[in-house]
Amino acid sequence: MTAPPAAAIEVRRLTYADLPQVVAIERRAFTSPWSLAMFVLELSKPTGICLAAEIPAGGEPELGGYLICSRYDTVWHVMNVAVDPTQRRRGIATAMLSSLLARVEHDAQLTLEVRRSNAGAIQLYERFGFRSAGVRRRYYADNGEDALVMWRTPATLRGTLDDVPGT
Ligand SMILES: CC(C)(COP(=O)(O)OP(=O)(O)OC[C@H]1O[C@@H](n2cnc3c(N)ncnc32)[C@H](O)[C@@H]1OP(=O)(O)O)[C@@H](O)C(=O)NCCC(=O)NCCS
Repeated sequence: MTAPPAAAIEVRRLTYADLPQVVAIERRAFTSPWSLAMFVLELSKPTGICLAAEIPAGGEPELGGYLICSRYDTVWHVMNVAVDPTQRRRGIATAMLSSLLARVEHDAQLTLEVRRSNAGAIQLYERFGFRSAGVRRRYYADNGEDALVMWRTPATLRGTLDDVPGT
């Protein structure tokens, strides 16, 4: 069963104060979760975009999800996206990706890796114009699963991979 849409999702910058809740969601969301130190490192990068999605919960806003994006040279790498398991299919990841795209250049190049079996996440990224442009074999050490390498560029939005590096 899917939950009703979150009434009012607010996306803002992620802060160090959010990290205890982030780590708690991370541990429930992934089989090989990031450590606290990995989040601290990402938050310390001045060029990165790290976002938090808050949802109202009985008066107090509650962290529903987070997104970590790093910039390497000219390319934005979406490093981590997760939503609290009790809050999924309410548009929280959609709100965070929309906010990310509003914060980068209109012709930005973005890339990410996703497990080949993660059909829900792949569908989410495709909705935003990401396209699969390659595979990294046995990328995930925990089970040897392949990663799909997805890109969102001006070309993928036109339906080609013409400007995707390495293709
Ligand atoms: C993937 C994830 C971030 C999606 O978060 P979410 O807030 O539930 O996503 P949204 O509600 O914005 O979903 C938007 C669309 O994405 C697709 N989608 C998302 N989750 C899906 C699922 N489990 N199955 C199928 N489609 C899914 C659907 O098209 C959905 O639209 P719909 O609900 O109208 O059908 C969340 O499931 C999660 O945290 N998963 C564990 C961590 C993870 O896999 N992160 C991605 C790593 S690359």
